[in-house]
Amino acid sequence: MTPTKTSMLGDRPVGRIGFGAMQLAGPGVFGPPRDRDAALAVLRRAIELGVDHVDTSQFYGPDVTNDLIREALHPYPDGLRLATKVGARRDDQGGWLPAQRPTELREGVEANLRSLGVERMDLVNLRLLEGEGGPEVPLAEQLGALEDLRREGKLELIGISNVSRARAEEALELVDVAGVQNAYSILDRSGEDVLELSRERDIAFVPFFPLGSAFTGGPAKLAADPAIARVAAKHDATPSQIALAWLLHRDEHILLIPGTTSVAHLEENLAAGDVTLDADDLADLDDVTPAGSPQETVTHDT
Ligand SMILES: NC(=O)c1ccc[n+]([C@@H]2O[C@H](COP(=O)([O-])OP(=O)(O)OC[C@H]3O[C@@H](n4cnc5c(N)ncnc54)[C@H](OP(=O)(O)O)[C@@H]3O)[C@@H](O)[C@H]2O)c1
Repeated sequence: MTPTKTSMLGDRPVGRIGFGAMQLAGPGVFGPPRDRDAALAVLRRAIELGVDHVDTSQFYGPDVTNDLIREALHPYPDGLRLATKVGARRDDQGGWLPAQRPTELREGVEANLRSLGVERMDLVNLRLLEGEGGPEVPLAEQLGALEDLRREGKLELIGISNVSRARAEEALELVDVAGVQNAYSILDRSGEDVLELSRERDIAFVPFFPLGSAFTGGPAKLAADPAIARVAAKHDATPSQIALAWLLHRDEHILLIPGTTSVAHLEENLAAGDVTLDADDLADLDDVTPAGSPQETVTHDT
């Protein structure tokens, strides 16, 4: 089964392997990168290789990844989709704070427009912080704020992030939702019900931590898994490529945004789109057992 090369984001096709920019900021997604030139080189190489979907947020750094994206890529090539997320802010130690009141969501979108140097975001994800100490701002108010911004021409698509199936269904009743961004990978399949909902409603599903999360040693866990190692050896591929290929085969609604600070890893990740898994491989990969849930660490970054 060869996975498709493009899938829909809203009413336009986009490459199935995009780029997640979060890892380009400093340690803890806070402050400047260890190697600024290397970060710029990764972004430029991504575009050279045809990436047309970059996921970021003003709260990465804060401002660090957006500034890098603007410096590396502005003026942006035609067709590049820039996706961001709002709903959080940083304190001066890098701690994550909720920012979900309508005025804060508006400020968040406007901060992204400024730092990226665009007049309209292609996609804004509402990053929910339920159960993480955030204020109880009704979902209708949060999504209403984004809908107002859409009417003003400041964003095209609304997405939701870190949602249960019930919350996603509620959001779909309130506004036109283009996609869900939740943690999901071959190592963490706990969000299967939300993937199923995305399939039913024909909206994009963008898994974050597609390599199992840097914060909990995801890539090393992939390499240590015997089933992944077997399938990787058979295809002369790396464990990370198999993890990404598995996601591409899982469902055509899945759009990938793997993050990396390395051009070599970027190239490897994009080449995962050429790995064709057969039924035996997929059955073998069904045996991969989650070695600790990356979901636990979601509060450390968004
Ligand atoms: N909505 C949310 O709440 C939320 C939360 C988290 C993330 N996100 C988004 O999701 C994107 C993806 O998440 P992530 O980047 O943190 O995913 P991830 O699953 O943690 O993968 C990134 C890690 O994998 C390593 N890596 C990347 N390619 C590799 C390869 N080919 N071989 C070995 N190691 C590799 C990277 O290290 P190197 O730099 O050394 O390659 C990095 O440590 C983020 O960039 C962000 O845009 C959203």
